Amino acid sequence: MGRLLSVINRYLPLLFLMVLVLAIAKAFHLYWPFIQSRLVAFVAHLNLLVRYGVWVVVLLLFIGLGVLAVLSLMSHAGRLPQSISRRRWIMDILDRLTNRVALEERLSTNADATFIDADALSHALKSKVIGQDAICDDLAAQIRRRLALQQRGKPVGIFLFAGNPGTGKTYMGKRLATELGRKLLHIDMTQFSRGMAGTALFGSPRGYVGSDNYGKLTSGLRDSPDAVVLLDEIEKADPEIHKKFLTAWNDGFITEASDGKQISTTRAIFVLTTNAAIDVLEDIRQQYSQAPDEMRRASTNTLKESGFAPEVLSRIDRIFVFSRLTGLDVARVTALEIERMIEGYGLQVADQGIDPEILYRLMERQEKLADTASSRDLMRAIEESIADSLIAAKQQGARCVALIEGQGVVFARPVACPE
Ligand SMILES: Nc1ncnc2c1ncn2[C@@H]1O[C@H](COP(=O)(O)OP(=O)(O)OP(=O)(O)O)[C@@H](O)[C@H]1O
Ligand SMILES: [Mg+2]
Repeated sequence: MGRLLSVINRYLPLLFLMVLVLAIAKAFHLYWPFIQSRLVAFVAHLNLLVRYGVWVVVLLLFIGLGVLAVLSLMSHAGRLPQSISRRRWIMDILDRLTNRVALEERLSTNADATFIDADALSHALKSKVIGQDAICDDLAAQIRRRLALQQRGKPVGIFLFAGNPGTGKTYMGKRLATELGRKLLHIDMTQFSRGMAGTALFGSPRGYVGSDNYGKLTSGLRDSPDAVVLLDEIEKADPEIHKKFLTAWNDGFITEASDGKQISTTRAIFVLTTNAAIDVLEDIRQQYSQAPDEMRRASTNTLKESGFAPEVLSRIDRIFVFSRLTGLDVARVTALEIERMIEGYGLQVADQGIDPEILYRLMERQEKLADTASSRDLMRAIEESIADSLIAAKQQGARCVALIEGQGVVFARPVACPE
């Protein structure tokens, strides 16, 4: 009996199904004429729907796709209202489980991270910029660190080069751009003395003269976002112009006045140079050479006293005080400058072609004139005395010259070039 019951139990659902199928078949048989008439009416409706309904369906599809596209764009920009973005059906898994926008931003800054060889950079700078070895090392290390750990929304670095005229501040800025393979945006800040609105840098508002063109800084950074921006002799510019750089340094962008577009400064390196307060800064450099924090505090205070706005100083990442050139370093720089000047005339200096007496006298004169003249002034004086002989040598078809001093006069003499 038990066995019979278990078989019935197992096959009971099958029995029910068979009864159901038989019942449905019987019902069809009984009501076939009625079902047939209903089917005909349904097919007629379907015809109408096919004729007019296709367009409605296409329209609905378009609207649906449009709504989906807008939602996806908003979601991508992180602008989806929370009430919608919480719904699982349109959510990126990262939106649900974390802050996707923050994660994407983090990844994009990481993608910008660049790793440079600080030793190679420092070595390359030292081979060109004479007598500033400690600065070359420190600057290269700073740049390596800042490129690798780029702060979000701020330039790679804002460095101030302070020091006496002719110590290589501007030159270091230029070399830095060259060695990093970045474009140099050299801005002579003496042009922006009192009363200047800075339109040449940031563009002119619509309707003003020049509003068709971008400013030098805005166009420069638009075209080369990772440029080295050299703000040369920054102290000579109006303090109001200094403040115009605050958004560039604090918020990571500048605004072009003609069309209101924001241009990013986050990949740029800013180098400011100054002659302000050089004597005090030189003392500070010597006094605190082993205490960088103290040096920074004292240098900042000194620069504040000489007119720099505190909010500008607080944005500067590092102040480098260039040492006065001494001894043979003066001769090295002078010899290099003479070589560059002669190359400007399309000529070369022969090996050992500069009379040591010339360099000695130049060093003596520089010593005597101290801070009242830079090597540039001395170079100008030399150029005046040798220009005629250089032109004559060129006319004679010479390629190489030697600089000779005779009876107090310096002149260039054509010589054979080394093979
Ligand atoms: N330390 C240096 N190493 C190599 N060249 C130098 C150095 N200092 C100066 N020079 C040479 O002298 C020229 C003038 O130097 P630079 O313009 O860099 O001086 P600066 O410190 O910016 O002076 P200033 O404060 O007057 O602007 C440079 O183009 C370079 O040829
Ligand atoms: Mg300079």
